[in-house]
Parts: sequence; C-alpha cells; structure tokens
Amino acid sequence: MERTNSGEHDNAPPSPAPSSTGLEGVLAPRSQDQRELLVRLAAGLAHEIKNPLSTMSINLALMEEDLGKNRSSDAPELSPREKRVEKRVRALQREIQRLETIVEDFLRYARGGQINRAPSDLGALVREALEFVEPEDARQGIRHHVDLPMGLPLVMLDEGAFRQALLNLFVNSRHAMPSGGELIVRVRREGNFAELSVTDTGVGMKAEEVEHCFDPYFSTKKSGTGLGLSTTRRIVEEHGGTITVVSEVGRGTNFSIVLPLVVEIHSAAGARAEGAPADGGEDA
Ligand SMILES: Nc1ncnc2c1ncn2[C@@H]1O[C@H](COP(=O)(O)OP(=O)(O)O)[C@@H](O)[C@H]1O
Ligand SMILES: [Mg+2]
Repeated sequence: MERTNSGEHDNAPPSPAPSSTGLEGVLAPRSQDQRELLVRLAAGLAHEIKNPLSTMSINLALMEEDLGKNRSSDAPELSPREKRVEKRVRALQREIQRLETIVEDFLRYARGGQINRAPSDLGALVREALEFVEPEDARQGIRHHVDLPMGLPLVMLDEGAFRQALLNLFVNSRHAMPSGGELIVRVRREGNFAELSVTDTGVGMKAEEVEHCFDPYFSTKKSGTGLGLSTTRRIVEEHGGTITVVSEVGRGTNFSIVLPLVVEIHSAAGARAEGAPADGGEDA
C-alpha cells in the first residue's frame, strides 16, 4: 500500500522517533533562545571532536604504513601478531571513519539558517548533482532518466546547500537499490512553482518509515546517521519550499520538492505595488 508524508512538522514538541537518541526531545524548544544555545553548544562540541579524530586517523594510517614497510623487507609475511595488529588498526580506522561521518552529518544538520540565496538555474544544479553521483550509480546498475524543461524561470537558491539536499536524496535512492534500478528525476513548472520529483524503483518504505523518515536520527541502515532527510527538509524549507514523500514497499519511493520561482516573487510584488516603487520584497 502506498504511504505518504507531507514532510510537515508542527511546532509542538515532537514525539520521539523509534530509533531516536532523545536529542530532539532535548532540543524541543522551551524557548527559541534555549534551543539556539543548545544547538550552538552541540555544534561546538562536534567541532572539538573532529580534531582529535583526524589526529587518530593520521596516526592509524602511519601505523598501517609501518606494518606495510615491515612486509616489504626481508620478512615478506606478517607474523600472526602483526596480522592481529593490522586487523585492529583497520577496525579502528572504520570506527573513526564512522564517527567522522556522524559528526559531519550533525554539523551539516545543526548549521542551519546560514543560507545565502541568489537567482539560480535549478535544472543546471540538478544536472550537476546527477553527474556527480552517476559514475557510482552506473557501477551499481542504476540508470538515470532525466527530464528537465528548457527555459524554466530562475529559483532563489543557495546552490551549495541545495546541492547537499539533492545529494542526500540521490544517495538514499542508491542505498535503496543495492542491485540496480531506475532513478527518475524530473523538473516541471506548476504555475509560479517548480516541482522537482525524484523517483527510485528501490525497496520502498513501510508506513512507520514514511512517517518518521524526516525525523533527525531516524535510520533503518546499519551505518546510517539518520540526518540526511532531516537536513534536506530543513534546506528545502529554508528556501520557502515543501517536500513530500510517497513510498511503497517493494516498488519504490518518490520525493517531491516544490519551490517558488523567481517570477512569483516579481509578479506578486508587482501586483501588490501597482506602480508604486518596488521594495525588493523577499529577503535573500
Ligand atoms: N529512497 C529511499 N528509499 C527507501 N527508504 C528511504 C529512502 N530515503 C530514505 N529512506 C528511509 O529513511 C531513512 C532516513 O534517511 P536519512 O535521513 O537519509 O538517513 P540515513 O540515510 O542515514 O539512514 C533511511 O534509513 C531509510 O529507512
Ligand atoms: Mg541518507
């Protein structure tokens, strides 16, 4: 059965998601100031964690290199002890890599509100993001089908942030199609809005997954951080847009993003102003 989630979130404290860490409960705004303070503290902590992690990572890489050097000398084989050490070094590297991903995803999520929009070609940005994921998708047997209209009016975008929002969707689609499939990306004009639709023929989501997929830290993946879709939703909303999802287990998933076109801002301002000097309207 097909499930939908409009991606809307009310301002009431959210009920915790099944795989929640409880952090969103802590971040539920008692006041906006308190929330901002908590987010700043958490982001500061995440930054502090990043430096020692990279030191550890460099030292582990050096240790691995040392073991490799031993191997190329007169003793071509590693001793059983060295083999154990090498295995542990690799396990540590994997864990550090995972911590780095968690911290980076967290920072991307927490860093909200610093977007800088300019009139942009949505189609070109979509094409560029698709080109970025294409080689890996092709290796995994995922074919791209792209339908971008010519001459779409511009959209006010923070290109860096919006690229991240798109990549989060494309990477999720890839994860949903481990043995290949179709990724269908389409942009259409709907009146004064652009509708961007991302469809995959992947594993799909159960009802409760659809319900919680935008919650921070909700993930069904072994090494997922659960921050991809919440970051994407935050970025879309910072652009005055909305994101919705429709999914069906075993058939696939569709995410649809609706964004105001620049034409809407102008015509609305023009209609209101009726010959009065334009005040610039929308802030960037
Ligand atoms: N295209 C998709 N197909 C199926 N499930 C998806 C898709 N996109 C997201 N999901 C579900 O939503 C969850 C949250 O996604 P996300 O926030 O990106 O976190 P992560 O990818 O780290 O798990 C995923 O773990 C998965 O269960
Ligand atoms: Mg993801």
